Amino acid sequence: MTRPFRHPHLLDITSLTTEDVVQILDTAEALFEVSRRPVRKVPTLRGKTVINLFYEASTRTRTSFELAGKRLSADTVNMSTASSSVKKGESLYDTCKTLEAMHPDIVVIRHGASGAPHYVAKNMRCSVVNAGDGMHAHPTQALLDAFTIRRSKGTLAGLKVAICGDVAHSRVARSNARLLRLFGCDVRIAGPRTLVPKHFAEAFDVSVYERLEPALDDADVVMALRIQQERLSQALLPSLREYARTFGLSEDRLAGAKDDAIVMHPGPMNRGVEIDPELADGPRSVVLDQVEAGVAVRMAVLYLLAGDAGAAPTGPRGA
Ligand code: CP
Repeated sequence: MTRPFRHPHLLDITSLTTEDVVQILDTAEALFEVSRRPVRKVPTLRGKTVINLFYEASTRTRTSFELAGKRLSADTVNMSTASSSVKKGESLYDTCKTLEAMHPDIVVIRHGASGAPHYVAKNMRCSVVNAGDGMHAHPTQALLDAFTIRRSKGTLAGLKVAICGDVAHSRVARSNARLLRLFGCDVRIAGPRTLVPKHFAEAFDVSVYERLEPALDDADVVMALRIQQERLSQALLPSLREYARTFGLSEDRLAGAKDDAIVMHPGPMNRGVEIDPELADGPRSVVLDQVEAGVAVRMAVLYLLAGDAGAAPTGPRGA
């Protein structure tokens, strides 16, 4: 766990190599058991400060970053925009400068605008982690998904992975496609034409299908995406019932996938829409394994950025 991490920030998957991903996953593997101990704490990041700055709602990502920081003994502060001066109109720039004056080591940010974490990284002297920005990227989700797949299948290399549903609005799909292609996975995207961007296949080097069946054929991993009702217009998806009938995942629909195929969902789930409740709670589902992996992977990311292995951030005054 002592090889230096080459990056001052974690902003997207595009900037990572296969070796970087393996380093994060191996570090997460070493830290995984901390969360299963009676005393779930190690002193690794004692004296370090992590600020979680969430401009959008979150259950899994925010809680797991908070627990990850605390289990590494970092001082961890959650800042929700609903109860901060953002409500009074404070800009992202001024929020960054205000928080910077308190000397954090890492800022974890979720924001509705694509590129906001990159802007923060340019304007602060600490490390920055992207916890989801607009429809652009969700790198720690892709890393925890990769961790879960590797634990279940023993490898990432060459797997057949179907990613199904609302791809257009999904930062999870984009980050997963990038990461899985690094390992030579056969990534199949399935969704209605209105919910898959036009040039997605070329941009992400994946196959795109307008029906579920060819995407699921012989698949090792089947990933359902959340229908993002808050970002959808009626023109894109006239009826949830019709969507569930044609793209909703169920045990029957998985008939063409491998017998030992696993079923994933980043959460939160729309049960009965993109995934049948029996499948979500059934033996193929690794949804809660993904949640548990989230803590270990986020511990690894915080450790690699702020611990002994971390690279110095190059913000405005550190550059
Ligand atoms: N998967 C995910 O990002 O979930 P939250 O929005 O609850 O953090």
